[in-house]
Amino acid sequence: MNTLLVNQSLLAYNTFGVEATARYFMEADSLAAVQTALRLPEVQGLPLLVLGGGSNLLFTRNFEGLVLKISLKGIELLDEDKQFYYVRAAAGENWHGFVQHCIAHGWAGVENLSLIPGTVGAAPIQNIGAYGVELKDVFEELQAIAIADGSLHTFSHSDCRFAYRESIFKHQAKGQYIIISVTFRLSKIPQINTSYGAISQTLAEMGIASPTIAEVSRAVIRIRQSKLPDPAELGNAGSFFKNPEIPKTQFEALQHQYPDMPAYPAATPDCVKVAAGWLIEQCGWKGKRMGNTGAHRKQALVLVNYGGASGMEIWQLAQQIQASVAEKFGICLQPEVNII
Ligand code: EPU
Repeated sequence: MNTLLVNQSLLAYNTFGVEATARYFMEADSLAAVQTALRLPEVQGLPLLVLGGGSNLLFTRNFEGLVLKISLKGIELLDEDKQFYYVRAAAGENWHGFVQHCIAHGWAGVENLSLIPGTVGAAPIQNIGAYGVELKDVFEELQAIAIADGSLHTFSHSDCRFAYRESIFKHQAKGQYIIISVTFRLSKIPQINTSYGAISQTLAEMGIASPTIAEVSRAVIRIRQSKLPDPAELGNAGSFFKNPEIPKTQFEALQHQYPDMPAYPAATPDCVKVAAGWLIEQCGWKGKRMGNTGAHRKQALVLVNYGGASGMEIWQLAQQIQASVAEKFGICLQPEVNII
């Protein structure tokens, strides 16, 4: 911890389980350690990669700069009012561990986000979401260090410009800040959200009529485990592509040809969000293996490493999938995973 390592293997630091090397690597467990790392003479002028759980990236090459793993820990109740608890979690906390901590304390709002891999600090960057809830629904503010001068900044909800799998940290503020803590606004009176089809069905199968937040969490865990591969067993980074938003007119034409094509409301006006997993399955990729990689047999949107795949091999498969979806549907899939 807090020591600069040279030529460090990143195999254990990415859930795809691909081999890549970092020219420099440091794991920082405090604000001071992060600030020190940024000032190290060895790394001046070199690219920087800030790493959380390594669960949303694909290394296609070695990283010729500093990989800084954020390992700050701690969860504290800062304040409360009639309706809410305000809880601050350090960026290096494991996301699911944080969710379990909230459930154990009766802090409601993150239960639908159970079992998402990764860390608290990475969660706002792509506004993680699942089963009808997004991080932005429980977000209060975050603290981040400016990479340029090590100064500390607070970002409010509106500062972050959250959208579907998007925030300012993927756009205007990209590569400029390191998130060190996130403050959540969690409900005292749970707003149970089972609107996402599979949750109510799973709760019914579990024999639960009026669920607690712990039971919603158990249902979500059950659904995720039934179709998403565990990265500890089969390398993957969750959904590889985003669900694309397409113009309503294009959707209507496609729906004519494919009446069972799933669709959801989109944030963009006059657009519809369509299911990338469905598009990929229609192109024949579901369960298809290409060398050491392939599209998962239960969820085509998840690309997997069967063992020994290189990042480039996975990226080539992703590009073939993009090309076939573009050819069949005229839709351009965008990676959700960060390609390094
Ligand atoms: N579908 C298929 N074939 C497939 C996969 C999906 O036909 O191989 C269809 C399903 O039947 C369903 C629709 O596509 O009608 C949507 O599938 P699903 O409910 O599994 O969700 P998703 O849209 O594929 C999104 C998120 C997941 C999140 C789930 C649940 C994105 C890119 N992915 O997946 O997030 O867990 O909803 O809310 O938005 C992640 O971001 O890494 C992730 C796993």
